[in-house]
Amino acid sequence: MPNMLAGRKILLIITGGIAAFKAIDIIRLIKKAGGEVQPILTASAQEFVTPLTAGTIAGNEALSELFDLTRESDIGHIELVRDADLIVVAPCTANFMAKMANGLADDLASTAILARDKHVIVAPAMNVKMWSAGPTQRNLNLIVEDGMQIVGPDEGEMACGEFGPGRMAEPETVFAAIEDYFYTFGENLPLKGKRILITSGATREPLDPVRYLTNASSGKQGTAIAAALRAAGAEIEFVTGAAEVPPPNGVNVTQITTAQDMYDAVHEALPCDVAIFCAAVSDWRPKEVGSKKIKKTGDGEAPSLEMVLNPDILKSVAALEPGERPALVIGFAAETDNVTEHARAKYERKGCDWLLANDVSAKTGTFGGDSNAIVFFDDQGHHEWPQMSKAEVGQKLANRIASFLKQSD
Ligand code: PMT
Repeated sequence: MPNMLAGRKILLIITGGIAAFKAIDIIRLIKKAGGEVQPILTASAQEFVTPLTAGTIAGNEALSELFDLTRESDIGHIELVRDADLIVVAPCTANFMAKMANGLADDLASTAILARDKHVIVAPAMNVKMWSAGPTQRNLNLIVEDGMQIVGPDEGEMACGEFGPGRMAEPETVFAAIEDYFYTFGENLPLKGKRILITSGATREPLDPVRYLTNASSGKQGTAIAAALRAAGAEIEFVTGAAEVPPPNGVNVTQITTAQDMYDAVHEALPCDVAIFCAAVSDWRPKEVGSKKIKKTGDGEAPSLEMVLNPDILKSVAALEPGERPALVIGFAAETDNVTEHARAKYERKGCDWLLANDVSAKTGTFGGDSNAIVFFDDQGHHEWPQMSKAEVGQKLANRIASFLKQSD
C-alpha cells in the first residue's frame, strides 16, 4: 500500500478511559507514517494521560479548552475540523458516544464533532456491560447512521476484570483503519456519482389479512452497508422490508412487504452501478391469500398450505443484458450448515459477481445481532473474513466496491 498518510492531518480526540494510553501509540504510528496529529483531550482523558505527553509525542500542543481565548477569537473549534483531513476518536467512552449520537456540544471535543465536515473513525472502549447496554447500542446505531466508522471494540479481559467485548481495538488496528481510509477514500469521496441499490430486511408473505410468513432479519446488516456506502458518497436506493432499525440518513427508501413488491421496486429502481441483495426474501408464498381471517374448522383440523415460488430477485438482476445489468451484482447467502459448500453452489446458481455467505444458525446470533462472520466469494475463489461488527462488514464491503469501480473506470 503506498504511503497515503504523508502530510495528512488527523484530529485525534482522546476521551477518558484506561485505554487512553493506547492513543499515544496511535499518535506514534501516524507520525512514523508521515502524518500530522492534533490531539484534543477531554477533561476526563487528562486523568489518564497528560496533555504534555500527548502534545510532546504529537509535536502539536494538545488542546482541551473550548474557551481558549486566542483560538476562539479565530473560531478555534471550527478551524480545527476544517484543517483536519480525518477525525479519530480513540478511545471513545460510552459517555462521549452518547454525546456524539445526540449532538451535545459542551466541550472542545464534542463541539468539534458537531461542527465536523470530515469522516470520523471511532474506537469505542468501555466496560462489557456498558457496551452491551441498550442505550449504548442505540447510540452506536445512531452514529453509524450518521456515517461514522466504528473500529472494534475487541473481546477480552477488561481492566475491571470482566470478560467480553468492550476493550479498545489495538493501536495497529485503528491505524490500519486510518490508512485504509486514506487509501480508499482519499480527497474525494470515492463513490460520488455512483448509484447503488441495496435490498434489506425481511419480506412478509400474507396468509390472510392478519397472518404472514416471514423470517428473523432485523435489517441491521443491510442498513450498515447502506450507511458505509452513503458515507463514501454513493447515491443509495434502499429497498427494505420489515426491519428493527430505521434506514440510514440520506438514502432513498422504498418500503415493501412481499417478495413480489421487492422484485417490482428493485426493477423500478434500475439502472444502477452496483446492486447488493442483503434482504432475507421468502422463497415461497402461500398460493391462496384469504380475504378474511382463516377460521378454525369445527373438528380442529389444521389447514394445509399450498405454496408457490416467488421470483428470484437477485438472479433476475444478475441475468440482465449488458447495458442494463449493474457493473457489480452482489448477493448474500444465509446458511445454517455446510456454509461454504452450500454458498458456493448458490454463488454458481445465482449468477452474481460476489457473494457474502453468513452462518445464520441459532448459535451464531447473526440474525438480529450486531456482528457477522463472512465467507466472501468472487471469481478468484473464496476467503473468510473474521467475526466483526456489521458496521465493519459494511465498511469492508464499501472499500472493496470502491477499489473495484476505480479499477474498472
Ligand atoms: O438483517 P440482519 O438481522 O442484520 O441479518 C442479516 C442477514 C443474515 C439477513 C444477511 O446477512 C443475509 O444473509 N441476507 C440474505 C438472506 C437470504 O435470503 O439468503 P438466501 O440464501 O435465502 O438467498 C440468497 C440470495 O438471494 C440473497 O442475496 C437474497 O437476498 C436473494 N434472494 C433470495 C430469494 C429471492 N426470492 N430473491 C432474492 O433476491
